[in-house]
Amino acid sequence: MSSLYTQLAQVYEAMYHTFMDYPSEYHFYSPIFQKHNKKNLLEIGSGTGNLAGIFHKNGYQYIGMDLSEEMIAIAQKKIQGVDFIQGDMRSFQLKAPVTGILMPGRTISYLKHNSEVKDTFTSAYKNLQSGGIFCFDFIDAERFLPAIIRDKNVNHEASYQGIDYLRKGVWTLDLEQGMTVNWVANYYKKVAGEWVALGEDTSILRTFLKEEIRLLLELSGFMLKEILDKTSYAYPTYVMVAEKL
Ligand SMILES: C[S@@+](CC[C@H](N)C(=O)[O-])C[C@H]1O[C@@H](n2cnc3c(N)ncnc32)[C@H](O)[C@@H]1O
Repeated sequence: MSSLYTQLAQVYEAMYHTFMDYPSEYHFYSPIFQKHNKKNLLEIGSGTGNLAGIFHKNGYQYIGMDLSEEMIAIAQKKIQGVDFIQGDMRSFQLKAPVTGILMPGRTISYLKHNSEVKDTFTSAYKNLQSGGIFCFDFIDAERFLPAIIRDKNVNHEASYQGIDYLRKGVWTLDLEQGMTVNWVANYYKKVAGEWVALGEDTSILRTFLKEEIRLLLELSGFMLKEILDKTSYAYPTYVMVAEKL
């Protein structure tokens, strides 16, 4: 797994508050579940629990699931009232099915092979009640890949609890096995006016075309209800809303 979610989990926690506007994320996703009257949710890839905490405060019954023990440990310490569990999106089994599953933050981009995407959709299907809603975002290949050819460097500074952090990232297009990109990011914190290296995170991220996601959902028994356009801090994404038939 990416070192950002293991050795660098505390750095993620410090910096991502400033990238991601979690209240806006809540205001985007919550109406989707409200519209379908679903209040009993699982979040896949719940990270350090920032979105989970807001859903919980707003009366949702919420489970957060993540592969990383380090991310779960931070979430559990910070958020009370949410059940954070360790699980792999490709093969998980909840104690009881939920009425909605949310997988935000382009978490699907860690699934490089179609078989892994299909396994994830099948796991989501099995853990939803009939009529349940599955909602997730993905990086739109059509808009994102041309953009990184034009500009492959991304630097970001953030301050958290009086400490300054810097992330220097570089995207490289890698079409060897599909529409993927290599991401290399170096993290630093400022000590006595100097940037001191904290670690490097390298990952391969998959971007998708709408049509392949549509097909994989259909092959997993879902009916696609809506496709929503959503711009995040770094990527153009689409959000899929699908129903378990
Ligand atoms: C981009 S972060 C999003 C975190 C959170 N939703 C947020 O918005 O801050 C992706 C999360 O997915 C988790 N993850 C990666 N692969 C996973 C897998 N196979 N199963 C479950 N979680 C996974 C990572 O540990 C990380 O916390």
